[in-house]
Amino acid sequence: MSERVSIHGMWSSRLAFVLAAAGSAIGLGNIWKFPYITGENGGGAFVLVYLLCVAVVGLPVMMSEILIGRRGRESPINTMHHLVAEAQRPRLWVLLGWSGVVAGILIMSYYSVIAGWAMAYVFKTASGTLTGQTAEGIASIFGGFVASPEKLLAWHTIFMVMNTIVVSRGVRSGLEQAVRFMMPALLVLLLVMVGYAYNTPSFERGLEFLFTPDFSKISTGGVLTAMGHAFFTLSLGMGAIMMYGSYLPKGTSIAATSIAIALMDTLVALLAGMAIFPLVFANNLVPSAGPGLIFQTLPIAFGHMPYGSLFGSLFFILLVFAAWTSGISLIEPAVAWLVENRSMSRVKAATGVGILTWFVGIATVLSFSEWAFSFNFFGEMKSSGVFDVLDILTANFMLPLGGLAMAVFASRCMSRASVVDELDMGDGILFRAWYVLTRHVTPVAVGIVFLHGLGIVQPVIEFVRGLF
Ligand code: PHE
Repeated sequence: MSERVSIHGMWSSRLAFVLAAAGSAIGLGNIWKFPYITGENGGGAFVLVYLLCVAVVGLPVMMSEILIGRRGRESPINTMHHLVAEAQRPRLWVLLGWSGVVAGILIMSYYSVIAGWAMAYVFKTASGTLTGQTAEGIASIFGGFVASPEKLLAWHTIFMVMNTIVVSRGVRSGLEQAVRFMMPALLVLLLVMVGYAYNTPSFERGLEFLFTPDFSKISTGGVLTAMGHAFFTLSLGMGAIMMYGSYLPKGTSIAATSIAIALMDTLVALLAGMAIFPLVFANNLVPSAGPGLIFQTLPIAFGHMPYGSLFGSLFFILLVFAAWTSGISLIEPAVAWLVENRSMSRVKAATGVGILTWFVGIATVLSFSEWAFSFNFFGEMKSSGVFDVLDILTANFMLPLGGLAMAVFASRCMSRASVVDELDMGDGILFRAWYVLTRHVTPVAVGIVFLHGLGIVQPVIEFVRGLF
């Protein structure tokens, strides 16, 4: 049988795929979100649960997602159509593709607004506005900025246009070129930041916060957030990685590439944490400052180090690029579907999806100013409204459920022969490990975390205890 290829084109090499998938995985999730949710959830114990989720759940799900994509070679919706027919399974499974497309647009709608913050900070650091400011001064500049809907909207618009352009250009010329140089440069700059943090008196305290688990500090909602973040940071559960897998030529090891991607992603997140928390403690800030954390801490370092505005603007430029290479993967599934089913040109499809996402993003823009409200999430007060609702809905629910469904589909619905063929690692111990993890461990782990997060596990434990 000759190999099927995607109508959208294929990656030029295995390296191109790894770079693109790593580009999708490494983004705001690692540098902006990981530190602030770690801060909100008490540090070490949260980090440990997150790392466990990446290794035990994330990695096998990533392999499932890539193999499904490569087998189907189409957008997640049509890939599911195709594989459901092949395996003679209920059509309901196609919903998995749809939920991915919706999740991608919802995530992109707020992702773009936060990427806009990073763009604004390129200029704020370069112009020296933040130089020589106290921690309070920097915090109040941030507060003033996010309360201005016009500014947020302008940056959100620019970021959406940037993404629409790259996605319009298609797989090779658009997506592939974007990642080649950005990732290594980002890594180097993060190391410079960790180097700066190392020289503050609070470096050890920062590391202790990150790496010494204290389980009394993590709540039930925190465990769910840690698991959700494992999916979010690896771009799993919504079809981005499935889409990228569909452009992957046969003969590339799915296991080896997945491990490489997960390792790079984790490394970047941990480095970001190591750069940020020492600054938090050295400046008497609170780790639980929320989504503004990196915008309130890193500028302090840039304001004091030699060539700070240069390093600062470079850092935010790279952060914007990291967000850009993730953003394109969030809308690619929707665009590919339009091209396949509505025979639209790529440019038209990308423009349509871009405009739709831009509109949805207005809700997040407003949620930091006029539409801000507080609500109760598992007994914890959260504020800033729509943004948090979207974040929790997608990262804590849609992605883990989507990822779970992919693992179950690959290991329980597709024929064992086709999965063995696609994974191409024989039928030995490695394959069996993947099989057991996706068939049994992933469903049980995700299930328990959900029930736990919804407050159902605790009463059961207490009930059982009461019996003895
Ligand atoms: N993984 C990206 C990040 O960490 C976000 C993302 C999520 C991208 C889901 C695609 C799909 O920033």
